[in-house]
Amino acid sequence: MLDTNNELNAFDRDHFFHPSTHMGTHARGESPARIVTGGSGSTIVDRDGRESLDAFAGLYCVNVGYGRQEIAEAIADQARKLPYYHAYVGHGSEPSIQLAKMIVDRAPDHMSRVYFGLSGSDANETNIKLIWYYNNVRGRPEKKKIISRWRGYHGSGVMTGSLTGLKLFHDQFDLPRAPILHTEAPYYFRRPNRDQSEEEFATWCAEKLEEMILEEGPETVAAFIGEPILGTGGIVPPPATYWEKIQAVLKKYDILLVADEVVTGFGRLGSMFGSEHYGMKPDLITIAKGLTSAYTPLSGTIVAKSMWDVLVEGSDTFGSLGHGWTYSAHPLCAAAGVANLELIDKLDLISNVREVGTYFRANLHEAFSNQPHVGEVRGDGLLAAVEFVRDRDDRVFFEAEEKVGPRIAAALAERGVLGRAMPQGDILGFAPPFCLTKAEADRVVEASVDAARSVLG
Ligand SMILES: Cc1ncc(COP(=O)(O)O)c(C=O)c1O
Repeated sequence: MLDTNNELNAFDRDHFFHPSTHMGTHARGESPARIVTGGSGSTIVDRDGRESLDAFAGLYCVNVGYGRQEIAEAIADQARKLPYYHAYVGHGSEPSIQLAKMIVDRAPDHMSRVYFGLSGSDANETNIKLIWYYNNVRGRPEKKKIISRWRGYHGSGVMTGSLTGLKLFHDQFDLPRAPILHTEAPYYFRRPNRDQSEEEFATWCAEKLEEMILEEGPETVAAFIGEPILGTGGIVPPPATYWEKIQAVLKKYDILLVADEVVTGFGRLGSMFGSEHYGMKPDLITIAKGLTSAYTPLSGTIVAKSMWDVLVEGSDTFGSLGHGWTYSAHPLCAAAGVANLELIDKLDLISNVREVGTYFRANLHEAFSNQPHVGEVRGDGLLAAVEFVRDRDDRVFFEAEEKVGPRIAAALAERGVLGRAMPQGDILGFAPPFCLTKAEADRVVEASVDAARSVLG
């Protein structure tokens, strides 16, 4: 039916409403579009036959890489056997039960149960409801506010878009909604007081959080949500001692901690979970992307034992939980999850994250850190970013209208490598598949230097 690219492009422009896309320029065919048809390892192929090294693993999710037949077979086998059955009222399927066990086995010791969804956004939506339910069961109906951070990313629904701390996701949508609040971003490079050490800045962040809690009234604040390392907000590792100090404040006021590990869960930082990596002890962990390496949509909320016990008390008092999705624990998605986690173990991919991640970040640092328009090169595991600035010494940023970040990402794509222009600031982000080789890492660094030079001179 669709013989030519032109025809497919026309259908795309006329009928496909793309997420996170400039609607006008796409519909008018004024912006580049790419129709992806295949992939293998860290490389994707499009309909024009162009191969690109995908140094952002889709949207930091194809962690095991493209073309894994083991996962494709597991999905097909499950589809032949049982395509769907629901998980309501205690029902289940073999892979969903097996996957729940595999997740809890890999999660920090104090975690207990998994509630399945389909996206990072719906998992955080579940978190909000569980937090409110929990405080109702505990007889504290006024303890409902949730504190997030500016530059945090937690989804783009009404409530999860409110949790997100990025302007683009709020403006013109009348967000954020109550009872969501935002505290300081743990972004050392952009700290207001440049004389502060990392530790001093972390202390300041914790003090600002405590001030907010006291202003609002601790009896009204239910939870704090954060990604172990800021992702979409700029790929920013926490300053030294940050999580230790934040958790001390939360503990003081009996406030729950949600670790949003949609990006970091299942190995991206070289540890199974970012919570372990940075010494966090969360009450809820959000998972998605790396759970299936995006071979199927699947997310989850991992619940700590201490919280689970209160939820159980709730159903003994109020009856069944009034919260569910038709596709919770979908058998095809769960089968993909089981095969994906098995593959990560079998290929020892998390060791590769540590080894190639360290190599990649060191080379990126060496190639960029003396460039006049580079403010910072940062990252952890297989997450990295280069932040471009007009003047590095005086820390002057480019104007958003100059689109420096997007132009560098476009120049990089022309060189056959895909990075991501992060949405706020001129930040080129990298989150390649875990199977990235050192030779591929070299290609990403060389092409990035060349792309940046072509834009900045
Ligand atoms: C940390 C984090 N949480 C939540 C989400 C939302 O996930 P989804 O796009 O699957 O709704 C994302 C997506 O990038 C994310 O990075």
